[in-house]
Amino acid sequence: MKPNEGLVIAIDGPSASGKSTVSRQVAQALAFIYVDSGSLYRGMTWKAVQSGVDVRDAEAVVRMMNESKWEFFIEERVVYFQIDGVDPRDFLRKEAVRERVSDVAAIPEVRRFIVARLREMSDFGSIVMEGRDIGSVVFPETSWKYYLDADPEERARRRFKELQVSESAACVQSVKDSLLRRDHKDTTRATAPLQIALGAKVVNTTNMGIDDVVQMIVSEVNRSNG
Ligand code: DC
Repeated sequence: MKPNEGLVIAIDGPSASGKSTVSRQVAQALAFIYVDSGSLYRGMTWKAVQSGVDVRDAEAVVRMMNESKWEFFIEERVVYFQIDGVDPRDFLRKEAVRERVSDVAAIPEVRRFIVARLREMSDFGSIVMEGRDIGSVVFPETSWKYYLDADPEERARRRFKELQVSESAACVQSVKDSLLRRDHKDTTRATAPLQIALGAKVVNTTNMGIDDVVQMIVSEVNRSNG
């Protein structure tokens, strides 16, 4: 890390591994800024859907991306953004985005654009950033890298619960199938696949409470910087 830059805590892992809840709570406990890097990939996907761009047409997505204007801002220590003057946060978890985001995240130019934006976020101060390639690509030089994982059955159960709150989900099995399809796309894509970053601490959260994971990370960071 360059001098005068804040700390970066990178938290990577597959969907429903617990990383969102853990990352938010770690950021809160340390009074750091929280960044959900997946929201940028979802934002790009939302913009494509909204503009009628077919996400399998990478050239069209890149053209759209190059014409879009992104602005980032902070609310209660969480980073949000507007694309061309619209804040898409309410649309990022909808099915239209969810089903297309892996295709958009596989486009190398999109990844380059988003990685550059994510790196700029350390200008906001010390951050907790969650994603798939934060420890491996975005901030490979940070000393704070965690890779959270959980068994597929447990991840499917967690995601099923979340979906029940927002919309109807067929059954745990179909949620598990969809998670595994997305895992497969995310781990096998050519550019920056989901992987355990060099030096990352792997935490299996299947049988751990969220609080235990948060406590572990917070006390490790505090011990080294206290
Ligand atoms: O974490 P999430 O479910 O919001 O991620 C949405 C998609 O974006 C998912 O397909 C993986 C991708 N993603 C990525 O490729 N790299 C990141 N750093 C974060 C998300």
